[in-house]
Amino acid sequence: MPEDDRASSHPSFWDPRYAAHDHLFGTDPNAFVAAEAHRLPSECAVVELGAGEGRTVAWLCAQHGHWGTAVDFSRTALAQADRWAEQEGISLQTVEADVRTWAPERQWDAVIVTFLQLLPAERAALYQLMRTLTRPGGWMLGEWFRPAHLAEGGYDRIGPSRADRMVSVEELRGAFAEDVIHRCTPEDAQLNEGGVLVGRAAVVRLVAQRRETGATRDGSD
Ligand SMILES: C[S@@+](CC[C@H](N)C(=O)[O-])C[C@H]1O[C@@H](n2cnc3c(N)ncnc32)[C@H](O)[C@@H]1O
Repeated sequence: MPEDDRASSHPSFWDPRYAAHDHLFGTDPNAFVAAEAHRLPSECAVVELGAGEGRTVAWLCAQHGHWGTAVDFSRTALAQADRWAEQEGISLQTVEADVRTWAPERQWDAVIVTFLQLLPAERAALYQLMRTLTRPGGWMLGEWFRPAHLAEGGYDRIGPSRADRMVSVEELRGAFAEDVIHRCTPEDAQLNEGGVLVGRAAVVRLVAQRRETGATRDGSD
């Protein structure tokens, strides 16, 4: 899905893509989040930012009994999420919002982000939003393309084409420095996420946990 300008920063980029596909990123959950889901406590409240059609958060509800909220600025994606959740009997809340301005007055047990490749200044705000939305002791799980995906050979031409949409390990380690970082690693992955994110990719994967109020700074894995 090449994108050469700022177009993907607007719902007008995403709506037609979701409209043109039956499940743009597939119906299986993001593989990384699925593999890390065991960390979440039972029946917790989970919010996914840039959730698209909600494939991952809906799976967390269906398979793990969590309470899910899918946030995205694409009305088309969320309409599909609503239809699919109803069809599958999954209780999923959808919120049409731009994460660059969304400021709900509540917290969740876990915040999920997969392939929400914002621009640099927007990312700083996204990381802060993830932290603000996560209750003390709660979890933050994220996966992004990292710079090597464009800068080095050996990867398939999927994902964003702009270098400034790539997310580095160092950036995440800085943004979540106050939290317990359980995993923040560069990984080479064979993605198989729907019809468009299929191929070899350089990604970075984050598992971080907000400190309990008053906790000290050790305790990472
Ligand atoms: C690459 S897709 C990934 C969707 C989903 N996370 C998944 O893995 O299936 C990026 C998603 O982020 C959404 N998005 C991009 N910028 C956004 C913003 N500023 N606010 C809310 N959603 C946004 C798009 O509409 C799109 O659904």
